[in-house]
Amino acid sequence: MDGFDACLLLLQIVIYYTNSTKWKQRCKSIASRETMTVITNKRDQKEKKVDEEEEEWVSYLSPEKLEVLRYLEPWAEANLLPLLKPVESAWQPSDLLPDPASLGPDGFHAACLDLRARAAELPDAHLVCLVGNMVTEEALPTYQSVPNRFEAVRDLTGADPTAWARWIRGWSAEENRHGDVLSRYMYLSGRVDMCQVDRTVHRLIASGMFLNAARSPYHGFIYVAFQERATAISHGNTARHVGVHGDATLARICGAVMADEKRHEAAYTRVVGKLFECDPDAAVRAFAYMMRRRITMPAALMTDGRDGDLFSHYAAAAEQTGVYTASDYRAIVEHLIRQWGVEELAEGLTGEGRRARDYVCGLPRKIRRMEEKALDRARTRPTEVPFSWIFDRPVSVILT
Ligand SMILES: [Fe+2]
Ligand SMILES: [Fe+2]
Repeated sequence: MDGFDACLLLLQIVIYYTNSTKWKQRCKSIASRETMTVITNKRDQKEKKVDEEEEEWVSYLSPEKLEVLRYLEPWAEANLLPLLKPVESAWQPSDLLPDPASLGPDGFHAACLDLRARAAELPDAHLVCLVGNMVTEEALPTYQSVPNRFEAVRDLTGADPTAWARWIRGWSAEENRHGDVLSRYMYLSGRVDMCQVDRTVHRLIASGMFLNAARSPYHGFIYVAFQERATAISHGNTARHVGVHGDATLARICGAVMADEKRHEAAYTRVVGKLFECDPDAAVRAFAYMMRRRITMPAALMTDGRDGDLFSHYAAAAEQTGVYTASDYRAIVEHLIRQWGVEELAEGLTGEGRRARDYVCGLPRKIRRMEEKALDRARTRPTEVPFSWIFDRPVSVILT
């Protein structure tokens, strides 16, 4: 190769390199433009979906939709308020726990020792579920504010004379006993780290809870009806389990709480039943809206300041012990479908309403498949999770 050929070859290499770099850059810029277009389209679609979802529940705040709740106020007076127990006949935490005033110092001491001896037999997994249930109940300030966000029923002054407002206050007053009685039992039992439990309650109330479509009474009452049944099941199962382990005092406490939750469930289920009667299309669409987003437990934001996944761990313990399981979730959906006659709905439904009905009615089948997966998982190795509530002792749970 002479000098000229060498120069020519060098020139060709430079041209090739330059072209290839330019080509690559060009490809890159086309690719990044295309990527940007895809991202923008996806973002637009997502925003459109968010707008549509927002539009969907905000439409429930229209005067016509809220008028239904105002129209139902005399019905609430006659059908809801009687479901509250008069204070004189309602149980109080002091009825279910050793009472120092009536027992005297020695009797009280003996009753406490007896309570502690029975509590000592409770397995840690059940204790964790009990604490989780109690922490949930203790965040009552958050829950009282839930119906007070529902338009047309909320207690505007804090002492409104409307049937809806009196119900909200009466219901909260009954609920207030649940956290109290469980907390006092736990304090006396000596089985749990009360400081860690109290801190969890403190943090949970400070964190609050997230509720989809929070201002719509249609969506909100559906959520509360579901939740009341879920808590009734959870306390009922706990009562059964602790009774088997020989703690009759705790079984009576959980049974009393469960009975309250059942009355509350009856009340909220009735309200939603009336909404189904008055506006079936709106009611079934609200039901589907809530179910598509799943009904999460109100204490989902709980944390003890140590375990970043405390709620999931508590939920796993509940699944494991049978206190509250995926089957219970499915059974609640089936129950509500039956209670509100969703399968029979036909008249007065829009196309969207029919789709909502079909979605809700198909849900139990889908959840059953989840249950089967949960059963498969149950065969996998459990994980040992320490809970600060019980002095960091570990509990075996199956994590999803
Ligand atoms: Fe409760
Ligand atoms: Fe409740």
